[in-house]
Amino acid sequence: MHAVTPGVLVHGGAGRIAAERHDEVQAGVRAAAAAGAAVLAAGGAALDAVQAAVRVLEDDPAFNAGTGAVLNRDGLVEVDASIMDGATGRVGAVAAVPDLAEAIAVARAVLDDGAHVLLAGPAVWDFAAARGFVRAAPGALVTPRMRARWQDERQRLEALERDGGTVGAVAIDARGQLAAATSTGGTLGKLPGRIGDSPLPGCGTWASRVGAASATGDGEAIIRVTLTRALVDRIARGAAIAAAADEAIAELVAHGGSGGVIAVDAHGRFAAVHATETMPVALAQLDGDAIRVAAAVRAADLALA
Ligand code: GLY
Repeated sequence: MHAVTPGVLVHGGAGRIAAERHDEVQAGVRAAAAAGAAVLAAGGAALDAVQAAVRVLEDDPAFNAGTGAVLNRDGLVEVDASIMDGATGRVGAVAAVPDLAEAIAVARAVLDDGAHVLLAGPAVWDFAAARGFVRAAPGALVTPRMRARWQDERQRLEALERDGGTVGAVAIDARGQLAAATSTGGTLGKLPGRIGDSPLPGCGTWASRVGAASATGDGEAIIRVTLTRALVDRIARGAAIAAAADEAIAELVAHGGSGGVIAVDAHGRFAAVHATETMPVALAQLDGDAIRVAAAVRAADLALA
């Protein structure tokens, strides 16, 4: 096995973030990447690192996942998430689950359980409660910002603005193993029961031995182009990771969608591409005993190794 530099790349969703929020979201993705890298520094697996990174962003109200998730048409939070281990192909996902703060941890429990890949709807609480997860009180995940946006949205539901803020992470560990994870509240004003790309393997999240990717953006279009699987397949066919990510986003746009993607390959090379104004990103890599972290609100401003 070739030596690789362990690292984690996270995103905080493709979209358009107002300038006054840039510092807040950059701090958020930076903290998440550092949390993932701390797992790698302790000798942990890429799978544990992406879970740790995404958990930080789920608890950060600046992002559309966990606390701070968007509200559906009825003013309720229903979350989607998935996590995939590139070394084994194991994947776990949850979709349209109400009042769930830590969707990525329950997705991981689905992966570890192994009987199924994707569990959906309120019944997921039977599975989650049996494993010690506690349902948030109704409304507890709703932030004043998202409540206000939902109230505005009700005035113009026919012209739904796609919301950024989905979160995700990809990582490579010291063994060269890859993983990806994605978590979201979905789209503002969505129909109850709507499931986006984030919990669907090959759409919002994919990981194999050659590459791992997490997508963000227009979920319906991402599903139609199976964005993350298409990206990793390009790497498997010999494309450089940057070209694979560029082509995947170009295909998304050609299908009328918009969004972004982050990816890592088995050589420890990272890519981040978006067709939107912003996509907060942070890369944390091990440097001896230290962890180097760099963050940006636009992927082009981040120097990727
Ligand atoms: N990409 C997040 C969603 O559409 O649900």
